[in-house]
Parts: sequence; structure tokens; C-alpha cells
Amino acid sequence: MAGMRLQTEESASTAPVQSDLISDDDRSVAADSWSIKSEYGSTLDDDQRHVDAADALNFRSSTAFDYGSDKEEGEADGISSELGLQSYWNAAYADELTNFREHGLTGEIWFGADVMHVVTSWTRSLCLEISRGRLPISDSFKEEPVEDADKYLCDWSVLDLGTGNGLLLQELAKEGFSDLTGIDYSEGAVELARSLANRDGFPNIKFLVDDVLESKLDTQFKLVIDKGTLDAIGLHPDGPIKRIMYWDSVSKLVASGGLLVITSCNSSKDELLQEVDNYNKRQLGIPLDTNTEEDQDISGQAPFRYINHVRSYPTFTFGGIVGSRVSTVAFLRK
Ligand SMILES: C[S@@+](CC[C@H](N)C(=O)[O-])C[C@H]1O[C@@H](n2cnc3c(N)ncnc32)[C@H](O)[C@@H]1O
Repeated sequence: MAGMRLQTEESASTAPVQSDLISDDDRSVAADSWSIKSEYGSTLDDDQRHVDAADALNFRSSTAFDYGSDKEEGEADGISSELGLQSYWNAAYADELTNFREHGLTGEIWFGADVMHVVTSWTRSLCLEISRGRLPISDSFKEEPVEDADKYLCDWSVLDLGTGNGLLLQELAKEGFSDLTGIDYSEGAVELARSLANRDGFPNIKFLVDDVLESKLDTQFKLVIDKGTLDAIGLHPDGPIKRIMYWDSVSKLVASGGLLVITSCNSSKDELLQEVDNYNKRQLGIPLDTNTEEDQDISGQAPFRYINHVRSYPTFTFGGIVGSRVSTVAFLRK
């Protein structure tokens, strides 16, 4: 991204700091560090990008920031950062659009190109399993060649939440999906995604300016995909409330029998499962502290049901700390 600085080794290993002690430089490094080194076309390899994501996560997880001019959007009340604010993304995509226009750069691939490829090929296989009536998905299900795959995949309308530069949708198009829509609340992101899709030969991918939390879409999609957007939403000063809004809104966007696939570096698989369990209980009017496994089986009525997760991501150690894994988890909509 233009105007962003590479993180120094010293700042990368800095111990977590309290919000009242954090300097402007630290703030900027922390906000940048999640993104800067995952820049597409940078000289940094994928391992380095993963390390940076894990490092930034460790930093964010123990730091509450001061928001400067964005303070009116909400007071810090837990784990939050500039990455939860629309103003941050608008500024980021203004830089990325400039980089695209002046240098043809595509911008960030969040969590790196390797993760993106895992997400798209794994998701494709999962959709094919479901199309061929292979529910429940076996824990040991493997990606395998499927005859007439494109015929199955054309039934899967896809919505990418917080699409950014839209490259995830381009990858899904390469995997055989053909009905593709991306939304982002930043106009700059949508302009960048459209420009890239046109340049790269994917003029049929639709991109719309839309807020995931208050979507104006009146259609439902068979596959709804999120890479890094719930993470960003959760970093808003009102993150816990926004996350509840996210589930309320997204549940309306996923068609019955459809899939929601979330990729996160902020939440582990188990945390995502817990969040969905809480959402299901809220919807069914069950107290959150009820142990549904022992007390009642809600799987038949629950709006979302876990069906599988990516098992092939490595873990990372940085500065003596084991970094968070990226998690990709799929839920089936009732
Ligand atoms: C970490 S980036 C991920 C971008 C993209 N999904 C990817 O994997 O490259 C988070 C994206 O979510 C978008 N975003 C955050 N909150 C949003 C909201 N409430 N509605 C729509 N987009 C949102 C941001 O503008 C940004 O493009």
C-alpha cells in the first residue's frame, strides 16, 4: 500500500503496550503490520506474510488503540484497532487505487496467496460434495477430480463479504464458479475490484458498494464467503456488538442449504464454532450457558451448523510466541 512503512525488526518484537502509552508510530505500525507485507507482488515470500499476520494478531490481541480523528465512531472498550473503521479502509483503498493506476499493482492478498488458493480449492471441493449429496461431509474428505464439475458449480451463486480487491472471486472464477458477486462498504475497494476484474478478463463478476452489517441485497446466495472481513468488523471499537450484527445480517444472505465459509486470523476454529453456537442459541431462545450437547440437541433447528474446516494450515512462531493459525471454517445454513 502506498504511504505504508515496512515494520522494523525491533517494532515487530515489541512487547504489547497499553493504549495510553502507545505512540503514533506504534499505532501506525500495528495497523499496517496486518497488511503491509502481504502485498501482492512484493518481494516477501508467503511464509513472511503469514508471520506478519500472526505477529500483527498477537500485537492487536493485547493492545487497545486510540483512534485520533475516528474517536467519535466509538470508544475503545477492548480489543480494537483502526482496521475496524471504515475511514481506515477508505484511506487504504485510495492508496491502492493510486498504486493500481500508476503501477498496475493489485494490492493486498490477505493472509497470502497460499491461503487464498487453499480456501478456493477447498471450498470448491466442499460445494461439489454437497452438490453430489455427500452430506454429512466426512472428516477425511479429500479434493478429487469430479466429472462435470462446472455443471454443479454453476448452481452455486457466490457472495464475497468485504471483497477488497476482489481477487478471491477471480480465483473462484478460475475454479469454475460463474455467478459471482462481491460487496464492500468502501467505494475505493469496489472501484479497484472492478478495474482488476476487467483488466484480468473477469468482466462478469459483479461488485457493489454495500455494508455487510446493513446489507441492501434482497437476494440470497448459495455460497457466502468471508476472508478477513469478520476479523476487521470485530476490531471496531464496538466489535462485540458488530459481530452480533454480522451474524444477524449474514444469516439473511445465505440461502437455505447453502454454505458460509469464513477465513479468520483473529478467531480459531473453536472460537468461530462457539460464536455460531451462541448465535444459534440466541435465535432459538436458549440461554447461552446451556450445554446443548448434554442438555438438548439443537442441530436440527439451528440456523447454522458446522460442517468442516481446513486442516492443512501450519502454525507459526514469532519472537518466541506461537502465532495464531489462520482458520477456515464452513457452516451449513438450515
Ligand atoms: C481484511 S480486508 C479483506 C479483504 C478481502 N476479503 C480479501 O481477503 O482480500 C477486510 C475488508 O472488509 C471490508 N469491510 C469491513 N467492514 C465491512 C462492512 N461492514 N461491510 C462491507 N465491507 C466491510 C473492508 O473494506 C476490507 O475490504
